[in-house]
Amino acid sequence: RIVPVLLCGGSGTRLWPLSRKSYPKQFSRLMGEKSLLQMSVERLTGPQFAPPVVLTNTDFRFIITEQMAEIGVEPGAILIEPDGRNTAPAVLAAALWLKDKDPEALMLVAPSDHVIPDAESFRAAVDIGVMAACEGKLVTFGIKPGHAETGYGYLELPCCLGDGAEVFDLKAFVEKPNAEQAEQMLASGRYLWNAGIFLFSASTILDAYRVHAPHLIDAVERSVHAAEPDLGFLRLDPEAWSEVEDISIDYAVMEHAGNLAVVPYTSGWSDLGGWDAVLREGDGGDKNVVTHGNAHAVDCTASLLRSEDDGVELVGIGLDHIVAVAMPDAVLVADTRRGQDVKEAVTLLKSKG
Ligand code: GDD
Ligand code: MG
Repeated sequence: RIVPVLLCGGSGTRLWPLSRKSYPKQFSRLMGEKSLLQMSVERLTGPQFAPPVVLTNTDFRFIITEQMAEIGVEPGAILIEPDGRNTAPAVLAAALWLKDKDPEALMLVAPSDHVIPDAESFRAAVDIGVMAACEGKLVTFGIKPGHAETGYGYLELPCCLGDGAEVFDLKAFVEKPNAEQAEQMLASGRYLWNAGIFLFSASTILDAYRVHAPHLIDAVERSVHAAEPDLGFLRLDPEAWSEVEDISIDYAVMEHAGNLAVVPYTSGWSDLGGWDAVLREGDGGDKNVVTHGNAHAVDCTASLLRSEDDGVELVGIGLDHIVAVAMPDAVLVADTRRGQDVKEAVTLLKSKG
């Protein structure tokens, strides 16, 4: 069976003021009744999946147990990172922890803050990757690129895509190119976006770390071996963890690995990397207007207005390309085309204390 390994440690500042350090977007009911975490867990539930292993930090542990209980899913384990060291150490810890139980276990590493509306198609894509993963490939999932995004990884295909349900060997993995490279890759038609979801066996990914990121292994291994069970959580040892480099799996392993494969995925994916993406994924109708909670739009177009269900009354009149998000202690009003600048605004706020 496939073990879902859910990454649940990021803070998603581009969706400020909804998403914040203490309550990031994966826990928000952003796209409906259920949170992104709950939808991610349910997407990876079924006969082919074992109970999920969740990787997170101390602050989020109880939100996670609460939200999982709400949907009636018992986690396989919740591993707690003493602090955020990005995805490479987190995935390595999960692999080391799993290999003692079953070295041939397949891990499906997935973020808990993405939107994938068609869960069934997604599970079918995972099934397509299983054979390659069993044969020792690091399987990625590729999205047809829509623009020259610099915030994603790019997957270089060996040839043009057929229509069938297939898995391809990859020529290269390019993480977060600069704008010029991204333009070129988009124009060439030979690249897909990396969805940030991976399928591999514990033994294959451990081999890849041994070759491409050996310096991470010792400290993470000590941290896993000295981990302390605590109220149903497993706390990685902080002392060993403090020696671990902060680096993503994309930079540490994927960019260097030769045994990559990709399953192209065409049934809808978004990492909700900004309010513009939330608007795009929402059901905005002809005028593309999305409202949520106590917000109301009058004669608006291409706009997103959001307040909490019991939050302040928010009214927009005659707006075009505006995002307005009201939380109890903060309000954002911005041009939807400036969605990526929210991150910088948050940094500015932080520096002002
Ligand atoms: N447990 C844990 N610990 N989770 C983490 C940590 C950590 O220290 N850091 C990040 N995460 C989680 C985030 O919450 C997110 O769900 C996922 O891991 C990926 O991290 P991001 O920080 O969002 O990565 P990215 O968006 O810059 O890039 C990745 O995703 C893109 C697609 O959304 C890469 O894989 C890119 O190649 C990819 O295109
Ligand atoms: Mg991301």
